Amino acid sequence: MKNINRTRRLRKNETIRGMIRETNITVDDFIYPLFIVEGENIKREISSMPGVYHFSVDTLVDEIAELLELGIKSVILFGIPDEKDSIGTSGFVQDGIIQKGIRAIKENHPEMYVITDVCMCEYTDHGHCGILRKDGVVDNDETLKYLGKISLSHVKAGADMVAPSDMMDGRIGYIRNILDEGGYVETPIMAYSAKYASSFYGPFREAAESAPSSGDRKSYQMDPGNSDEAMREIAYDIEEGADIIIVKPALSYLDIIKRADDEFNIPIAAYNVSGEYSMLKSAVEQGLVSEDVIMEALLSIKRAGSDIIITYFAKEIAKRLK
Ligand code: PBG
Repeated sequence: MKNINRTRRLRKNETIRGMIRETNITVDDFIYPLFIVEGENIKREISSMPGVYHFSVDTLVDEIAELLELGIKSVILFGIPDEKDSIGTSGFVQDGIIQKGIRAIKENHPEMYVITDVCMCEYTDHGHCGILRKDGVVDNDETLKYLGKISLSHVKAGADMVAPSDMMDGRIGYIRNILDEGGYVETPIMAYSAKYASSFYGPFREAAESAPSSGDRKSYQMDPGNSDEAMREIAYDIEEGADIIIVKPALSYLDIIKRADDEFNIPIAAYNVSGEYSMLKSAVEQGLVSEDVIMEALLSIKRAGSDIIITYFAKEIAKRLK
């Protein structure tokens, strides 16, 4: 007898390998993040994220056409307003940057599934994800009122789904009520449920101009040392009405994705965040590793148990899959 086991026999052939492969990445897995800025004819590369751009509303519409051509059918939008104040007014007005972006996409490409990130940090002059009390602490319940307004304004502008990323307590139930009362009972909520206080968001904060001017987000985002806590956060959000839950970041939190998949019966999205993107991207660009690491990293996220991957790599992988 030779020492060749049956997995080895099957690995020999490409066709069989394909048939027994347990995890595959397809373009249907992706949600592509997009950053929208005020102005016209702007497509400006973000220095901390090579290959990712700031778009004005007009160039955004062209980008959407390109994405649809590549088979990418869903985007998540982030707005970078010109005006910021202490209550993030530009985040919920009907002529806000996000609201204009949503309307332009829906007028030109109604088939694109538009998700919006609901948060205040891009719209507040202090850069925190909520309303600050006099002592500098984020006021959870006061913030909920604003998150409700922001969500409703996105959906009124035409958003298909909202994704609250603020990590305030009780926000999913609060937003669900506001949407239901507004007649949007069929609009789903994708909750950033297990969102860690992570340094992997660094490039995003440069891209979105949303770094807090003082303090950090550790009172509302999760401690990277915790995993039971993530399960509690997810359970609360499901209880309050989340339709999809997000684990964020993805690559350093594969165990959280796996545990969430084992413990809950709900679709999971993993956010392959800016720092993860920039690290891999720059290692590939410097020739330190082959570009195949990107597909391998995305595969690991899916293998861990996520149904959906929110990733800045969506466009280049979609090109490669074609
Ligand atoms: C808004 C928000 C952040 C990200 C998504 N939504 C930044 C943060 O919480 O500081 C990060 C995304 C990324 O790093 O790619 N709160």
